[in-house]
Amino acid sequence: MSHNLEGKTAIVTGGANGIGFAIAQHLSDAGANVVVADLDAAAAQAAADQLANATAIACDVRDEEQVKSLVEQTVATYGALHVMVPNAGIGDFSPIVELDLKTWRHLMSVNLDGVFLSIRYAAPAIIASGGGTIVNVASVTALAGTPLIGTYSASKAAVVNLTKTAAIELRAHGVRVNAVLPGFIETQLVTAQVQGFEEKLGLPEGGFAGMIAQGQGRFGTVDEVAKAVLFLAGEDSSFCNGSGVVLDGGLNAGLF
Ligand SMILES: NC(=O)c1ccc[n+]([C@@H]2O[C@H](COP(=O)([O-])OP(=O)(O)OC[C@H]3O[C@@H](n4cnc5c(N)ncnc54)[C@H](O)[C@@H]3O)[C@@H](O)[C@H]2O)c1
Repeated sequence: MSHNLEGKTAIVTGGANGIGFAIAQHLSDAGANVVVADLDAAAAQAAADQLANATAIACDVRDEEQVKSLVEQTVATYGALHVMVPNAGIGDFSPIVELDLKTWRHLMSVNLDGVFLSIRYAAPAIIASGGGTIVNVASVTALAGTPLIGTYSASKAAVVNLTKTAAIELRAHGVRVNAVLPGFIETQLVTAQVQGFEEKLGLPEGGFAGMIAQGQGRFGTVDEVAKAVLFLAGEDSSFCNGSGVVLDGGLNAGLF
């Protein structure tokens, strides 16, 4: 299999850490110019410094002007845009009845507005560059009810649906739009919240790890997600459009 992205240009939002950084690494290794876009400017620069042909751009994906400017700066630097990976996302652990509207809106603004704005401004630039791909980072939690992560899961379900509409609308313009739906992957997004999650679910210490072992065998790795994104970003996936690749060790496959 070849995942050649030589001469292509890609943006990864939330690319400074975790899954986003692994995606940036894989795209860079495949020969693409990579723009690491992140809220954390210093971390984005440190990430870009580790990659060949990479640039860091500070960007808050909630902000329309910043996302528009991210795309404009990318095209100004590299002359084109072929691959957009709206990966920036945040989590929250709250039961619905304890969730306040401010927290709900904050999460939606990053996880959903951010993806909408990324597609909204990247797609015209990709079309102007002769076509390409958008790979959204959703989550397997989009597919089922998920106690304590209802906001997050609702945002990801919306991303899965938006992926499908964008795929159909952009098909005739040479842009394919797909999503990855990871299960629990070992990053700061998950590890920072384990204790709070165990407390809220009434699990003993270590109970979260046990839940993961039962549901999906083990934690997934950032590289396992990045490899699927690389596949969807390049020509090896030329007939995939509007699809979602589930990477969850079987978490979503059964009831037990
Ligand atoms: N870790 C998991 O188990 C898991 C599972 C399924 C899906 N995901 C999704 O993968 C994506 C990456 O998650 P991760 O686990 O690598 O998280 P992470 O916390 O390790 O990294 C997220 C990155 O996004 C950046 N970011 C946050 N808000 C931003 C904003 N407003 N604008 C720009 N950048 C912003 C952060 O600075 C950080 O660099 C998210 O969309 C997440 O929902 C993660």
